[in-house]
Amino acid sequence: VIDPESWREVLATPRLRLVPQTAADAEDLVGVLADPELYAFTGGSPLGLSALRARLERLQRGLSPDGSEVWGNWVVRRHPDGTAIGFVQATIGEQGGDLAWVIGTGWQGHGYAGEAAAALAAFLRAEGVAPITAHVLPEHVASQRVAARAGLRPTGRLRPDGEERWSDEPAR
Ligand SMILES: CC(C)(COP(=O)(O)OP(=O)(O)OC[C@H]1O[C@@H](n2cnc3c(N)ncnc32)[C@H](O)[C@@H]1OP(=O)(O)O)[C@@H](O)C(=O)NCCC(=O)NCCS
Repeated sequence: VIDPESWREVLATPRLRLVPQTAADAEDLVGVLADPELYAFTGGSPLGLSALRARLERLQRGLSPDGSEVWGNWVVRRHPDGTAIGFVQATIGEQGGDLAWVIGTGWQGHGYAGEAAAALAAFLRAEGVAPITAHVLPEHVASQRVAARAGLRPTGRLRPDGEERWSDEPAR
């Protein structure tokens, strides 16, 4: 679907740089992702430095173990100071591209997630990925606003875990 090398691209927005994530980013991200509140909607819990580094190493391969999905992960850094404030990710397969976003608690409420998600969606569209989707709990208003800024609309289709599919496919 997509050339995995193009995942190595830095994506620029007015206030942010989305930088392809590597294991070396664990030091910068461990504190950003340390607040248990970040996992309220998604499940999971903060990782320690070595566990986070191991996770980023796995993600850095850019491919699922069976090779059927491309995994793109970008650290979200404020521009121009370079501070890491979160990450965005895209999972690309035959079904299109599914997005996810996390912004550290101390940096929320400034529109950073929306700015990052919109840039990522635009990049993927330019690469020909379709449809672009995200899965958001119906009660997670902030994340719904982020999905809308990425050009996605709610489809009314719920997964067994209760998350609603958002998509940029034309409504039927
Ligand atoms: C969801 C998340 C990424 C949002 O990050 P953020 O940088 O604060 O998002 P933004 O500042 O772009 O705000 C998004 C929108 O939500 C609104 N919003 C923020 N907090 C809100 C709240 N508690 N209730 C209602 N709306 C809220 C903002 O006003 C904004 O709306 P707008 O675009 O219409 O102005 C962040 O809260 C997060 O990382 N949460 C934990 C991880 C997570 O749940 N990820 C999503 C999985 S689908």
